[in-house]
Parts: sequence; C-alpha cells; structure tokens
Amino acid sequence: MLIPLALKENSCDIVLERGCLAEAGRLLDLKRRVLIVTDTGVPAGYPRMLSAQCAESVTVTLPEGEDSKSTDHFLLLLRRMLSEGFTRGDCVAAVGGGMPGDVAGFASACYMRGIDFYNIPTTLLAQVDSSVGGKTAIDLDGIKNVIGAFHQPRRVLIDPDTLGTLPDRQWSNGLAEAVKMALCFDAEGFSLFERTDPRAHVTEIIERALRIKTRVVEQDEKDQGLRQTLNFGHTLGHGIESLHGENRLLHGECVALGMLPMCGEAVRERLRAVLEKLGLPTRCVAPASAVMRALLHDKKMKNGAVSAILCDEIGTCRVQTMRPEEIRARYLSTFPEALP
Ligand code: GLY
Repeated sequence: MLIPLALKENSCDIVLERGCLAEAGRLLDLKRRVLIVTDTGVPAGYPRMLSAQCAESVTVTLPEGEDSKSTDHFLLLLRRMLSEGFTRGDCVAAVGGGMPGDVAGFASACYMRGIDFYNIPTTLLAQVDSSVGGKTAIDLDGIKNVIGAFHQPRRVLIDPDTLGTLPDRQWSNGLAEAVKMALCFDAEGFSLFERTDPRAHVTEIIERALRIKTRVVEQDEKDQGLRQTLNFGHTLGHGIESLHGENRLLHGECVALGMLPMCGEAVRERLRAVLEKLGLPTRCVAPASAVMRALLHDKKMKNGAVSAILCDEIGTCRVQTMRPEEIRARYLSTFPEALP
C-alpha cells in the first residue's frame, strides 16, 4: 500500500508492503550512484539486497548505537561521497534503524545543498515513527540532535518482513512509539494493543501510526505547534534516557516511562496494563532530582516553564506549559519508588 505525505515540493510517499525491499529496484530510482548507509547491528543481507538492485553503490557500515550520530560519522559520509564523485543527481539510502536514518538523512540534506534520500527502516521504532517526517540530526558535545535539518526522503520503503530478525526487546521498543500515537490520536488503535497480540497485527499497527504521523506532519512540517504532540512522553523520557546508568534503557522504554506521569489516572491504569503486556517498564527508580536536571538541560524553558503534552482521555492530547515543580510532582506520584 502507498501512504502519501503531501508537502507540496517536499512530498514523499511511503510504501508499506511485505517483501518490498526485494522490489526496491522497481520502487526507487537506483539507476545512479547510491550511498547505502547501514550499521553493524543490521543483518548484512538487507543492505546487500538493496545494493544488488543499484546501478552503482557504495556501502558504509557505521558502528551500531546512538553514539554514531556524531560529526565524525557525518563527515565520513560526506567525504565518501566526495571521493566517489557523487553529483547532485546521485542519492543516499539508509537501511536500518533511527541512527543510520538520522546521519544519512542529514548528510543527504547537506551534500551539494541537498540530494535525494531514501529511507528503508528495518526496526519497528523507525518504521512507526522516525523514518517519516523528514527530521534528520546528529549530536554535538553530548547534546542530542542539536545539529540537523528538515529533509524529506523522496520515498520510504517499509518492509514488515525485516522485523523477522528483530530481537524481542526491539519489538517492545518500537511498540512504545506506536502506543504513544494511539494514545494521543486513535482510541480504536489503542484498544488493538489491549485486545490482541500486536505482533500478529503489526502491519495494521504500522499503518495506523503512519496515518497519524502523516496527518500531523502535513499540518506542521517544521514542528511549530501540532507536531509537538508527537513528543508525548518524551519530556520526562529524554530526562530518563540521558541518565547513563549501568542498565541503560532504550528510547522506547524511556518514552513508555515518560508517558505514565503525563496521563490522567484512568488512562494511566489502562496504559500501565498495555505497557506490561508489551514487556515495557512501568516502574522507575531514577532519582527525580537527576531526571529533572537532565530534562531542564535538554528543554528550552520559556518564562520558567516547559511545554508538556498531557493525555486525559484515550485518543486525545493537549499541550500545556508546566512549571518544573509540577512535572516533578507528577513523576514522584507515579513512581513512588523513585528517590526525590
Ligand atoms: N518523532 C517525532 C517527530 O517526528 O516529530
């Protein structure tokens, strides 16, 4: 199926179809030089399958993990394109999760002031969220996503068959972002998580998440208002994520924890049950003082308050400016096991 993202000259469409990676030569324009960017955690067969369908390709495999969103790797990609003689007519394709998508997307946004980009996400987290919407970024001096650009992919290829090789924890990681979309915009979609085995309905879950995401991005591509709602759970989630403990949590796991305090009581109970069913954490012992310090470092404050997203009823959400003390109080009442 084809899901359109209508953004005038930046329009992009999303192909969501089992087996579509094997059809990339028909679905994408690969009759040119293609820089394929992947990472060491992605089964090598996926970038190889893409490469076999390109007229001429160069594959760069970055080390797996968020730390690869660095200026060094960004420059590595640009230098590789330069040394291989890439022109404005050539393109970049990311194969993997959010990290290669972000670095490759940003390199494609910058090389010769922007060349074509294809995103081929192979993790559930990237399939339901990060591969769509054109946000690309790298980190600098420990600050996440501080350098970046909006650069829409020409096309996104989502092949749910690639999830066959995904470890269980990464399934849960991706489902957390899909739950987030349903909680804020799609009450019926939320009940799918309650009523069914989400793995058996993964294509429907991806489709529902992408229909929400495209609707939001079409109204607010540059993240000036409505798109902020896609950050539900991320205010506290980022704070928790940036605490580098021994048992470092994944992004979706932190978003799961970050959503709980921002829900009304009845919603929170239903959400907690779904998160437990999906194998996501529902208890957090990270000290409130450390989480708040990290959160306030990350978030731009305006008049002593931050923008937070709240969900009081499943299928709806609202943006509210909140003082840090209010967020801290919600955190501590949701996680009484956490130290102040
Ligand atoms: N992942 C949130 C956004 O794309 O805006």
